[in-house]
Amino acid sequence: MSQKLWGGRFDGATHSEVEAFTNSLKLDERLWQCDLKASLAHVRMLTQVKVLSQSEGDTLEKGLLELEEALTHGQIVFNPKAEDVHSEIERLLTERVGALAGKIHTARSRNDQVATATRMYLREEITNLRRELRLLQTSLVSFAESHLETLLPGTTHLQPAQPVSLAHHLMAYFWMFQRDSERLKECQLRTNCLPLGSGALAGTSFPIDRVMVQQELQFTSICENSLDAVSDRDFVVEFLNAATLIQVHLSRMAEELILWSTPQYGFVELSDATTTGSSMMPQKKNPDVAELIRGRSGRLAGAWVGAVTMLKGLPLSYNRDLQEDKVHLFDGVDTTRSCVRLMNLMLSQITFFPEKMAEAVRGDFSNATDLADYLVTKGMPFRQAHELVGAIVRECLNKQIPLEAMSLDQMRAFSPLIEASVFNALPPLSVLKARTSRGGTSPSAVQFQIQKAKELL
Ligand code: ARG
Repeated sequence: MSQKLWGGRFDGATHSEVEAFTNSLKLDERLWQCDLKASLAHVRMLTQVKVLSQSEGDTLEKGLLELEEALTHGQIVFNPKAEDVHSEIERLLTERVGALAGKIHTARSRNDQVATATRMYLREEITNLRRELRLLQTSLVSFAESHLETLLPGTTHLQPAQPVSLAHHLMAYFWMFQRDSERLKECQLRTNCLPLGSGALAGTSFPIDRVMVQQELQFTSICENSLDAVSDRDFVVEFLNAATLIQVHLSRMAEELILWSTPQYGFVELSDATTTGSSMMPQKKNPDVAELIRGRSGRLAGAWVGAVTMLKGLPLSYNRDLQEDKVHLFDGVDTTRSCVRLMNLMLSQITFFPEKMAEAVRGDFSNATDLADYLVTKGMPFRQAHELVGAIVRECLNKQIPLEAMSLDQMRAFSPLIEASVFNALPPLSVLKARTSRGGTSPSAVQFQIQKAKELL
């Protein structure tokens, strides 16, 4: 028998460089469990529909189960020169049961086989990733619960804008990750569609039972078009798109932690266990983990572009280009999962410095909107109030004092509408507590979103 699954029509041997160039075992060996499970289901089905005799089916099934056992316990290893994991598993089965192993490929092609294994792998990894995301979301919510009144400079353009609570800020990330998780769930639904039974591209003349295989492998649907089934990698692109957004969200968060942990900000300190030092400068404690999370967002964007570009322009149906899907997919899965985990680890050991955050809010004029709002409650049109408060701020800047240090007389010089009650409106905590609109930063409004978040978790 020829060494290759397809050697029959070839006279000459494959060039060694071509073998090395086309080989994907090192990459796709992680699919071995999925491949074995799918092979088992295929054998059981072929036996059920009597394409295989009962005794053939039993022998193949026993061989596959023994193979699974041996691989699980590391008793056998793959030949690194094998063309891919699918051909290697068939070879190992042949070692066990002899030429009968060749019958396993009845009514099956590696084209539907690889699509099936990849989908089984990804649906599982999506569950794993969603679990990690959920842990991260849970820790964001619990931090939020204890920082409802912790003041933080809210910024736009990175310039002080209006104070927000640390809770509100952290919950913003909760919602990003919530959308990410929902995107993954939808992607999982479309991933969970069975290609096996599509053959190389056109289906098969054997009386196969795809529903039986679907049930055995717990797919929620069956790919309805064999050409589409073997050439579709939308699910890979869709996953990488969702994962890119996760990375982007992690990256924004990482960026803030990097800024916040500088002495200039001093809002947080990252733990020794989650930071690194410098080989030259003894004083350094660097946020390398956060930086790598930020940096690796580029990897994901690259993986997405790589996968979608690979698909573009491919004629139906299977083309070898599709083997490249796994380069991008596996890197995307590994990178995103580890980044979510590491972000969570970093957060679990972080120290927040609420006093430093509050100090940054004091005197940053982030209560200026509230002074304008105050004038509006006294009947002044907002546009006019905006102009007037701008002039008061300019005066404060000249005097180098914060807004709340202006005396009542100094303020009344700008408008007689201002009364002593203004001093209730200007302290940062009052400013925070006043933003009670739904989705706003007041403790009561944040409490409301935390409640919603907990229902989702
Ligand atoms: N290893 C290939 C892949 O990952 C599957 C093999 C299909 N090869 C073929 N010549 N039809 O896509």
